[in-house]
Amino acid sequence: MSANQSHNGLFITFEGGEGAGKSSQINILAQKLQDRNYKVKVTREPGGTAGAEIIRHVLLSGNAEKLGADVETMLFAAARADHVDQIIRPALKKGKIVLSDRFFDSTRVYQGTSGKVDMAFIKALETISCGKLKPDLTLILDLSSQEGMKRASSRRKQGETADRFEKEAIQQQELRRKAFLEIARQEPNRCKVIDANGTLEQVADRVWDEVETKLKKVM
Ligand code: TYD
Repeated sequence: MSANQSHNGLFITFEGGEGAGKSSQINILAQKLQDRNYKVKVTREPGGTAGAEIIRHVLLSGNAEKLGADVETMLFAAARADHVDQIIRPALKKGKIVLSDRFFDSTRVYQGTSGKVDMAFIKALETISCGKLKPDLTLILDLSSQEGMKRASSRRKQGETADRFEKEAIQQQELRRKAFLEIARQEPNRCKVIDANGTLEQVADRVWDEVETKLKKVM
């Protein structure tokens, strides 16, 4: 099914800033695909495997921050290596459609735009954790930073605090938004920008248009 010769599934990643609605859209898409008899595997980063979920906890608690930006980036890559080996490749080999909430573009954007981590280092880690594996389709959910932060804080339950990466200022969010759009500009075949404004259904329709186009091309 995939244009990527090493497997016959399809690998779709969702990317974007805080509060863009990725997880709701993934669930809606998974249901639509299952209704059409596709086998679907939903997963997320950082995490997806038992080992990677432990690393997720360390990263999101902010405890890894003390180790410095390079080591933090290596931890994201270590979690990804396990996720790719244990979950993503096996599912693709079985012909499944894998939907991942974030993947390597999040590292390029979150760690890359901090100004502390060199892009060549990030790309080298990508090769180590993913080999030649790349998403067949990356959907970048695009929302203004103000709207994204508003949604992320209203989504948090009472008493719950923002995670390490949600605490960043609007300005930082705007830089990330630009970085995601720049990746889409550089890799137009892989990446499609989805306007994340509007109702869940409206955004889901935009997502479906892109996925359907991809399915028609690769099948
Ligand atoms: P999560 O609770 O999954 O939030 P979201 O709904 O925004 O995806 O938290 C994941 C956080 O980790 C998110 O703020 C982005 C950050 N992150 C990175 O900084 N680098 C990465 O490589 C990945 C995968 C995530």
